[in-house]
Amino acid sequence: MFQTLPTSPYKDQKPGTSGLRKKVPVFQQKNYAENFIQSIFDSLEGFAGKSLVIGGDGRFYNREVIQTAIKMAAANGFGRIIVGQGGILSTPAASHVIRKYKAFGGIILSASHNPGGPKEDFGIKYNIGNGGPAPERITDAIFARSLEIDSYKIADHGDINLDTVGESKLGEMIVQIIDPVTDYADLMEELFDFAAIKDMFAGGFKFAFDAMSAVTGPYALEIFENRLGAGDGCVMNGTPLPDFGGHHPDPNLVHAKKLHDMMMAEDAPDFGAASDGDGDRNLIIGKHIYVTPSDSLAILAANAHHAPAYKNGIAGIARSMPTSMASDRVAEKLGIQLYETPTGWKFFGNLLDEGKVTICGEESAGTGSDHVREKDGLWAVLLWLNILASRKTSAKDIVEDHWQTFGRTYYSRHDYEGLDTDIANKLMSDLRGSLNDLKGTSAGVHKIENADDFSYLDPVDGSTSSNQGIRIFFEGGARLVLRLSGTGTTGATLRVYMEYFEPDAEQHGLDPQDALKDVIKAASIITELYKRTGREAPTVIT
Ligand code: G1P
Ligand code: ZN
Repeated sequence: MFQTLPTSPYKDQKPGTSGLRKKVPVFQQKNYAENFIQSIFDSLEGFAGKSLVIGGDGRFYNREVIQTAIKMAAANGFGRIIVGQGGILSTPAASHVIRKYKAFGGIILSASHNPGGPKEDFGIKYNIGNGGPAPERITDAIFARSLEIDSYKIADHGDINLDTVGESKLGEMIVQIIDPVTDYADLMEELFDFAAIKDMFAGGFKFAFDAMSAVTGPYALEIFENRLGAGDGCVMNGTPLPDFGGHHPDPNLVHAKKLHDMMMAEDAPDFGAASDGDGDRNLIIGKHIYVTPSDSLAILAANAHHAPAYKNGIAGIARSMPTSMASDRVAEKLGIQLYETPTGWKFFGNLLDEGKVTICGEESAGTGSDHVREKDGLWAVLLWLNILASRKTSAKDIVEDHWQTFGRTYYSRHDYEGLDTDIANKLMSDLRGSLNDLKGTSAGVHKIENADDFSYLDPVDGSTSSNQGIRIFFEGGARLVLRLSGTGTTGATLRVYMEYFEPDAEQHGLDPQDALKDVIKAASIITELYKRTGREAPTVIT
């Protein structure tokens, strides 16, 4: 019943940090998904008879690839497949399921916050037994294998029923369909003070959550409405749709504008939040105040002890390099270590496994802790709710109080999407070549104190990751960071990250774009952006 079918190497570009992401029609090419999945299996050792978790964010083509992956796992010798009912598992829930059931690893089907549909994005990534994204040595092996592979193994078997919870067999392999929500919701109930949050809601606290027609809908309904009594209808867009209702399931101020407008209105709810396509990102908006992801990380770290899981304090904080330095000031005050890692969640895995850090985050709306090995949108929302319930004050007060104590770090990211790849690469390489000359010069009003290309030495496994982005430090504490996106699917995206530290509370009420205008100007001088790209303004400002 198992067959080995011919395929040809896919001769494609190297998958990025989040696995392989392409348009659906690319994945629909004959043998394309099979090729990649077989390359994953060929790059792993010792999984015979073991369990593999499979699930995705429900986007278009999810079910088809899950059927293929199950049949291939059977032919490759896995002993058990654990699949979320309907093919659904949010990325953090998949990470938890891998850990809880001590699986060998997992295959997660998602293109995160990218749009879904017949002409939109799809993705496949592999997570290892700790529940986290595969490290570079494995993703490199998968890529190398994909260039050589000439056959794949698949069971000659009809489709599996993904919609009924329970066990069945495919040859020797057990296929176990699990409820995708329960294990995850139970974990959240262990970490947080559900009784206190429930009391807060019972007392009239108003909450709005936008699931963006993506995977968190069923999780949010169970946790917020059923378990916490947050009120019927507090979860908006709660049904996962294959095309996310035609929207970008990206929880930022552009794509979650409706939620933002709602939170800025006179009669706004007390607290608002959203999550992305696969449930690992979060957007936090208090009544009349948007919280930047970098500030949210710092505030969660400073207040984590309000939640039962972190009541004894946190071991350390890790942030990706472009994330603002607001958390560094929290770590300093708490007397704990701060780790600065390259962009991408996989760099946090070792630090979490070794117990060096408890909380991690990225400026791109990712926050999480040692409870799983992925960033976790609903976790961040629940930690906020737990802090609000415990401190019994508003989100706005918590943020302003944080700035008062630690100073405010103004922060913004400007993205230039769809650039010509050659032009973008040249911009970066020219900049790399001129770093030494930049030191001591002045860009607009700011004198450059230091400039480098970020390189990371992993303190756990000793590996080095270089060329991770250009950092420019200005006199007075401002910082500019430039890097090219590794997750886009069309052209190149230049990300320009800017921050400026303001200790004086009298100056905390500025608009971030105003507060950062000198750094924005410096960025355009240093990059010669207009001259090189013809772009006068960024595509997205966050
Ligand atoms: C983006 C984010 C990064 C995140 C990644 C995966 O990567 O910037 O923080 O880890 O998506 O969600 P980028 O496109 O910048 O390479
Ligand atoms: Zn995501």
